[in-house]
Amino acid sequence: MLDRNNELTAWDRDHFFHPSTHMGMHARGEIPTRVIAGGEGVYITDVNGRTSLDAFAGLYCVNVGYGRQKIADAIAEQAKNLAYYHAYVGHGTEASITLSKMIIDRAPESMSRVYFGLSGSDANETNIKLIWYYNNILGRPDKKKIISRWRGYHGSGVMTGSLTGLALFHNAFDLPRAPILHTEAPYYFRRPDRSMDEEQFSQYCADKLEEMIVNEGPDTVAAFIGEPILGTGGIVPPPKGYWQKIQAVLAKYDILLIADEVVTGFGRLGTMFGSDHYGMKPDLITIAKGLTSAYAPLSGTIVSDKMWQVLVQGSDELGAIGHGWTYSSHPICAAAGVANLELIDELGLIENAGTTGAYFRERLAEAVGGHRHVGEVRGDGLMAAVEFVEDRDDRRFFDVSQKIGPQVSAALAERGVIGRAMPQGDILGFAPPLCLTRDEADIVVKAATAAIEQVLGR
Ligand SMILES: Cc1ncc(COP(=O)(O)O)c(C=O)c1O
Repeated sequence: MLDRNNELTAWDRDHFFHPSTHMGMHARGEIPTRVIAGGEGVYITDVNGRTSLDAFAGLYCVNVGYGRQKIADAIAEQAKNLAYYHAYVGHGTEASITLSKMIIDRAPESMSRVYFGLSGSDANETNIKLIWYYNNILGRPDKKKIISRWRGYHGSGVMTGSLTGLALFHNAFDLPRAPILHTEAPYYFRRPDRSMDEEQFSQYCADKLEEMIVNEGPDTVAAFIGEPILGTGGIVPPPKGYWQKIQAVLAKYDILLIADEVVTGFGRLGTMFGSDHYGMKPDLITIAKGLTSAYAPLSGTIVSDKMWQVLVQGSDELGAIGHGWTYSSHPICAAAGVANLELIDELGLIENAGTTGAYFRERLAEAVGGHRHVGEVRGDGLMAAVEFVEDRDDRRFFDVSQKIGPQVSAALAERGVIGRAMPQGDILGFAPPLCLTRDEADIVVKAATAAIEQVLGR
């Protein structure tokens, strides 16, 4: 067994190009290889038999938890009956057609169709193409710019990496590319003027957005994209009144809204969609992760009826839409999606995300909120973050070279709990599977408290 582990570790260092990894440190063996072999509920186990409570659900995607037989059976059955057929020119499978019906049944009222992809990134690429097509069909060829937000995360392709508002995803890749612009992050804790209350800060963000639209020319701005709650950018819920004020500006200038619900879709905030939760009325919704709980790769663009009507007009004028992926609505992934959405209902996981999420965040705030280096404990549903500061009173941040966030997450991992050091700040993030119990939440809080005290003192 030991030999096999050593062999895998050597192969990993020599051949595996890992995403979002320091390549040099990995190749030199400074980042240990951890080979994950199994998972059950909220726990994963590695080949050495070491178990960890995964309080980030992989990459906030394993929403139903690990080891669900129902989804494994659905995948196996589909693979046996029909592993693949494409979806071009009206072809479908029982799984893909059923899944699209299930998604529209769950989506906000004005939604009409689902276009399937394989990742959150490709679904956001689809969104941009559909928006450009839409404005061309409407005879508005100049209305093409997309406004995103600093600290937004929308993927790491050329366009979606441009939409993403985090330096790490731009550096040395010549991103962002036009025609993508970034406006203020709705990050109340980091507001420029600390005397602002939440409503004032929301107004400030809406004013900044309007200023950008007016400066660029409203006839050149097509859409605004945002996650209902900032995810990778720091797990930051919107300040009070934010989405209402932003949507008023978008409506004024006839600008479409994309709700990127890759993280929040299918229950993470205790509601089916984050759009329901915060009163957003999007024209497009991006879905991925929670759609299959990552048992198979599947994403989607949910298209509103308003846009769909124009797309139909487009194909009447131009012929079939020139946009397609070989694996769009792959039957095995769609079968996983159907079983996953059924399981979410059967187990009452959305309600649990709301109630256990509230319990978890309260316990976490009680346990560490008063620590002298904790600036804020925040979150919503089953998403939570602890942000560390050098000085609470003047909100002074640690120097990045101290790597406080990564140190705390490493100390947490040593205690058998996985949290995530979020990029661009000293922020420890949590987004556990939606089946988390109160006892498991207590385990996470206890380990997080000990990890924080180990790195930052009592
Ligand atoms: C909000 C959001 N959008 C898009 C993506 C990109 O998804 P993927 O990594 O599947 O391309 C992510 C990934 O974390 C995300 O959090």
